[in-house]
Amino acid sequence: MKKIALTGIKPTGIPHIGNYIGAIQPALKLAESCEARYFIADYHALNSCKDPQEIRKMTLEIAAAWLACGLDPSQTLVYKQSQVPQTFELLTILLAFTPKGLMNRAHAYKAMLQNNSEAGRDPDDGVNMGLYTYPVLMAADILLFDTDLVPVGNDQFQHVEMAVDIAQSFNYVYGTEAFRLPQPLATQFSKTLLGLDGRKMSKSYGNTIPLFAPEKELRKLIMKIVTNSQTIDEPKDPDSCNVFSIYQSFASPQQVSALRQRYLEGGMGWGHAKQELFEVMNTQIAPLREKYFELISRPNDINEILEEGSRKARIIAQNKINQLRQLVGID
Ligand code: ADP
Ligand code: TRP
Repeated sequence: MKKIALTGIKPTGIPHIGNYIGAIQPALKLAESCEARYFIADYHALNSCKDPQEIRKMTLEIAAAWLACGLDPSQTLVYKQSQVPQTFELLTILLAFTPKGLMNRAHAYKAMLQNNSEAGRDPDDGVNMGLYTYPVLMAADILLFDTDLVPVGNDQFQHVEMAVDIAQSFNYVYGTEAFRLPQPLATQFSKTLLGLDGRKMSKSYGNTIPLFAPEKELRKLIMKIVTNSQTIDEPKDPDSCNVFSIYQSFASPQQVSALRQRYLEGGMGWGHAKQELFEVMNTQIAPLREKYFELISRPNDINEILEEGSRKARIIAQNKINQLRQLVGID
């Protein structure tokens, strides 16, 4: 029996290459050996975004991005959280098994409290109940589908652990194993991609390279990657270089060792190293970029894929809910 892998994809618009290397690629790789269930977590986005056009746009963009990168709806169950209403019924059930204190300990919530205190605001300023109970909705996403593995970044580990806690208290109360206990899987093992300024590539640092940047913009951004002021002749250290670090995520092992050699020998300027990076990245990304723009021009087709996946997901979810309703006596 294959393990069930499930992850939620926040609709944050077009991903950057850090998301591609750190989240999309590893999740797609995992889908080759697992029964994968990957969904767009659109109701999670409502906690922070109240612009309907923006939510629609970001949902389509993120779905098109994953599909363009190779997410295959004939192999993986691809759906939209909002189109599986059983999620929200399970949320209601789980809330009754979630100690309030558990939510108080969530890192994301604690960070918000701290930011508010530091800024001299009320500790709960800007914290809505959706944000506060976010880990329970995430637990519902996970537990509804008998998930074994949850590929996520480190920042989401605690949430998966909370899903385990909640599942265990339910199982204990009814003396069942109704909920399978999920395990977080670090997509981070893949590696953290550095941004233009050498810090972790992140939307919050504004140092990203968008995954589908047109060729000209891609080259321009790569030329902006910060390097040191060594001259062409000087030998260079590949292991402390941002350009080389990104190169390693895209090039073959042979290409990596050839470029490493050129760094160490000297006689190669930064412009040249950046050109090598551009070529290897563009070769890999160009077909994905083309597919992305083709897909995003046909939003109805994307919606159809999501609807078809959601229809299948609802059948699995309803079976689970029927079983749970019987256990709790609401049947
Ligand atoms: P951002 O930091 O740009 O807001 P998110 O937090 O939305 O990115 O990350 C979405 C996914 O992409 C997560 O799984 C995260 O671990 C992964 N990810 C984000 N930035 C990087 C990076 N620079 N290198 C590797 N993985 C990353
Ligand atoms: N919270 C995740 C994030 O911020 C997205 C998400 C929602 C998720 N539900 C999930 C991830 C269930 C894994 C499993 O990226």
